[in-house]
Parts: sequence; C-alpha cells; structure tokens
Amino acid sequence: MAYTAKNFDHLKGGAVKGLSDAQLDQHFTLYKGYITKLNEIEEKLSSADNTKPNYSFNEYTELKRREAVAFNGSFLHELYFENLGADATISAGLKTVLDAFGGQEKVIADLKACAMSGPGWALLTRNRRDGKLHTYFVAEHHLGLPIEQDLLVVLDSWEHAFMVDYGIARAKYLDAFVENIKWSEVSKRFGA
Ligand SMILES: [Fe+2]
Repeated sequence: MAYTAKNFDHLKGGAVKGLSDAQLDQHFTLYKGYITKLNEIEEKLSSADNTKPNYSFNEYTELKRREAVAFNGSFLHELYFENLGADATISAGLKTVLDAFGGQEKVIADLKACAMSGPGWALLTRNRRDGKLHTYFVAEHHLGLPIEQDLLVVLDSWEHAFMVDYGIARAKYLDAFVENIKWSEVSKRFGA
C-alpha cells in the first residue's frame, strides 16, 4: 500500500501562535519527504532479494535498517501536527492520570527537558505495562523508542522544527509548543 501525505495547511495563517507559515511550510515539505521514502522502501522491499542478508552490507539489510526511520519519521510527524492547535480541553480521565504524574506543569516541564536533550522527539505516553504516564526522549526517529506505549503528546525537537522562527533558541520554541498543545486531541488519544 502506498501511503499518502496528509494536508495540514489548516495550521497556517496564525492558527499556531509562534510558528510562522514559512516554518510550517518547510516542515510539511520535510514530512512529505519521509512519506515518499517510506513508499520507496516498502516498494523495494516487496521485490528485494532476501536470501543474502549481511551485517556489513546487503541491499535488503540496508532497507530493513532504514525502514523504521522512514516509518516513524512519517507518522511521528502526523501525530505532531495533529496535536498542534491550542485547545485546553482535558478529559476527566486524562486529568486523573496527569495529576497522578504530578500535574500538568510537571508533565510540561518533563516534556521540555526531554526535548532539550537533543534532536529527536519528546513523547508523553501511557505505558501499557504499568498504565501510568511516562515521558521519553527518542533520538532521530527510531533510537530509544520504547515499545508498549500509547503516544499522547508528540513533540518534534529536531532543529528543522524551529530554526526558521527561532534560530538556535530551542527553549523559546518549546515555550511556543506547549502553549499550542491541542489537549482535546491528547484526551482523544488517551480515551482510545
Ligand atoms: Fe520534524
């Protein structure tokens, strides 16, 4: 199946305070590139020779090594764009677990700290093993991504997410991001 990039133009025109249309356009273009590469990798894998996989080099092996990069690069971006758009509505169920974590402010402080830890992704998840909220830092798109998680808040902390608007001032971008979390979407994910 070929994947199709979604359109997130509704986020432009000031819908996300602190992220300009120029910044968002660059990011949308980059996201579409991941979808293109994911389709390319899956297409090549469908006919690749899988009889000589090799640690040092083999075409099938390389495709397999990079498959998760393109896959997560595509869908982490969709989850990121979909949780943008300030909306403070939090469901009662989500509020309960946020309070158990230490409150919304603690969650936000933790997410920011994860995002400051390097280029990659900061995640707020529900850990299916203990049922509690956790924050995680994922390097690139695929390094350190824990299994058994429901992704609730997805925060892009790659420089391309903010360089147009903020230069190297990552912390200022993070201030803008947390003001733009669409908590109604987070609540929907939590309830699902
Ligand atoms: Fe990104």
